[in-house]
Amino acid sequence: MDRESIAAIHAHHWRKGWGSVTVEEAGFILDAVAARRPRRFVEIGTASGLSGALIRLMLAAHGGERFVTHDVSARFFGDPSRETGFLLGEIGGAERVSLARLVGRGAADLMSHGERFEMAFVDANHRHPWPLLDSLYLAEVLEGSRIVIHHDLLLHRRGREPSGIGPKHLFDQAPEGRRRAGGGGNIFMLDLSMKRAELAALAVSALHLPWSLDRPMGAEAREAARAMLKRSLPGHVLSAFDRAAAKFDRAAPGWGVRRGLLGRLFP
Ligand SMILES: C[S@@+](CC[C@H](N)C(=O)[O-])C[C@H]1O[C@@H](n2cnc3c(N)ncnc32)[C@H](O)[C@@H]1O
Repeated sequence: MDRESIAAIHAHHWRKGWGSVTVEEAGFILDAVAARRPRRFVEIGTASGLSGALIRLMLAAHGGERFVTHDVSARFFGDPSRETGFLLGEIGGAERVSLARLVGRGAADLMSHGERFEMAFVDANHRHPWPLLDSLYLAEVLEGSRIVIHHDLLLHRRGREPSGIGPKHLFDQAPEGRRRAGGGGNIFMLDLSMKRAELAALAVSALHLPWSLDRPMGAEAREAARAMLKRSLPGHVLSAFDRAAAKFDRAAPGWGVRRGLLGRLFP
């Protein structure tokens, strides 16, 4: 597996508007896989399955054994007549790497599934704080190199709305020695092999930046995030989440209070 093979597969399957990685970005993932040789890899955000099929081929070439991909949607948004991840079935050559394609699931479901991974790729909900929360869920199931690669660092510049700022907020709050962007600048890796206190500091500083949700988080997702923060990070991270949710999510407890007189007196 090299950049030429990536380019050939990409040229055949890539379609405008499908949100897939570019050849250069896939090359960035290839370098990470070749250097660290993860045996088990998980992706959050399957879509057509183009990135997943390429990553599976990279794993096949570098000692990988297992590829799991999650997507909240069962139908592919770019062509609802296709099921999510259909290209994983169409692009062959990596059959030695076992595959699980999980739909109706996001990073919040990782823990209950019980599998552990060495590397991850996140290309899902880009609205802040989702890329951060996805990384924190992943931190619970990652071992070994504990590298999380995030797509769309530059989405906030390209889109018309400020919604896709999540990867950028995450990147900016990560310590310099723990992050590296590349592949044309739109993709980065985050090294989660940091101490719990360092991860907590990253989480708190990112949580306090304005959230860019398009719709309220929903009680189930909020409670899942709260439970994860409670079980895996120091208590002040959950407090920061609750304070930020009350400020930036109109469905969160306390939102009305913060918008009212109390909020104006104590912003
Ligand atoms: C930009 S596309 C992924 C593109 C794909 N990685 C590629 O390069 O071919 C984003 C996908 O993430 C899914 N998604 C959105 N929010 C999600 C979440 N919270 N968890 C998992 N998947 C999510 C969407 O349904 C969509 O299929």
